Amino acid sequence: MEETDRIISSNENSEDKAWDSSLRPQHLHEYVGQEKVKDNLKISIEAAKKRSEALEHVLLYGAPGLGKTTLAHVIAKETGANLRITSGPAIEKGGDLAAILTNIAENDILFIDEIHRLNRSIEEILYPAMEDYALDIIMGKGASARTLRLDLPRFTIIGATTKASHLSAPLRDRFGLVHHLNFYEESDIEKIVQRSASILKINIDKASSKAISSRSRRTPRVANRLLKRVRDYCQVKGTGEITEKDCLNSFKMLEVDNLGLDFIDRKILEIIVDKFNGGPVGLNTLSAASGEEMSTIEDVYEPYLMQLGFLERSARGRMVTARGYEHLGKNQVGQNNLI
Ligand SMILES: Nc1ncnc2c1ncn2[C@@H]1O[C@H](COP(=O)(O)OP(=O)(O)O)[C@@H](O)[C@H]1O
Ligand SMILES: [Mg+2]
Repeated sequence: MEETDRIISSNENSEDKAWDSSLRPQHLHEYVGQEKVKDNLKISIEAAKKRSEALEHVLLYGAPGLGKTTLAHVIAKETGANLRITSGPAIEKGGDLAAILTNIAENDILFIDEIHRLNRSIEEILYPAMEDYALDIIMGKGASARTLRLDLPRFTIIGATTKASHLSAPLRDRFGLVHHLNFYEESDIEKIVQRSASILKINIDKASSKAISSRSRRTPRVANRLLKRVRDYCQVKGTGEITEKDCLNSFKMLEVDNLGLDFIDRKILEIIVDKFNGGPVGLNTLSAASGEEMSTIEDVYEPYLMQLGFLERSARGRMVTARGYEHLGKNQVGQNNLI
C-alpha cells in the first residue's frame, strides 16, 4: 500500500490537490491557529507595506499537512503580491532557476516548496539573489570564463520544508523570517473541520467535529480528508447530515481508531508485542516482519506512535510502552525491561 493511500497520511495525495484549493483559507484571519506565527507575520507584513518594500525572505518549516503552502498563499494575498510557485526538485539546473529569476517582477513572491531538496550548486545561485538581488551568470568556460552580474528587482522568497535540519546553514541564514508550524490544538482542528464543513455545505454536530479532530493527528490535511470520507458515508448510509453515530460507524469501516491510528500503525505495534515480546527489536527486523520499508517505518509510522508515547526508540531497537500495550488492549507480561 502506498503511504499516500492511507486515509490518515499527512502527505498530499492527488485527491487532496483537487480539494485543497477550495478549502484553503485565503486571508490571515481565516487561517486557524498558529497564533504566534500569525502575530509575527502581521507585523512583518505591515512594516513592509509601510516602507513600500518587499517582505523579507520567509522560511516555513513543519510536518506535512500543517499549512505551509496555505500560509504562502495567504502571505501573497495579504501583501497583494504575485505568487510564483516552484519546488526544490523541480529546479534541476542552474538555468531553470535563472529563467525563473529573470522573469520576476518587483515585490513578487517566489514560493519554493521542499526547499531542502535544492541541490548545492543551485543554492549558490540563490545566495546573491536573496542577499543582493543579483544574478551572476557565468559566460564561457575555463580561462576565458567571465561573470556577468544582472540586477534583479526586489522580491521575496518563501521557502517551505519538512526537514529544516537538511537545509544548509548559509541558506537558512539568508531568511530574515523563520517560522515553525506546530501540530494544532484539538480545538483549532475542530474549528477547521467546522469551517470546511460549511464550505462543503454539510451540517455537522459538535460531537462529530470533535470525533474527527481527535482522530486527525492534529493535522489539518488529515482532518479535512477524514471529514470528506465521513461526509460520503453519511450521505450514502445516513441522512446526509453528519451525526456522531454515522461518524463513528464510518471510522469503524475505515479502520481508524479513536486516536487516529490505522491498521498499519496497529500492525506495527502488534508485531512488536506478539512476535518480539514488546521489543526491543531492530528496525531491519521490524521491516522484514511487517513488509514495510525501513525508511517508511522510520519517517512515517514511528513519529506519531512516539508522539503518543506508544513506542520508544533505544540503541537496542524499538519497544512498545505500557501505554502502547494499553491502547492495544493487551497485557504487558514478561517484557524485556531493557530501556
Ligand atoms: N491554519 C489552517 N486553517 C485552516 N485550514 C488549514 C490550515 N492549515 C492547513 N489547512 C488546510 O489543510 C490543507 C493542507 O495544508 P497545506 O498548506 O497544503 O500543508 P503543507 O503545505 O504544510 O503540507 C489545506 O488545503 C488547508 O485546507
Ligand atoms: Mg505544501
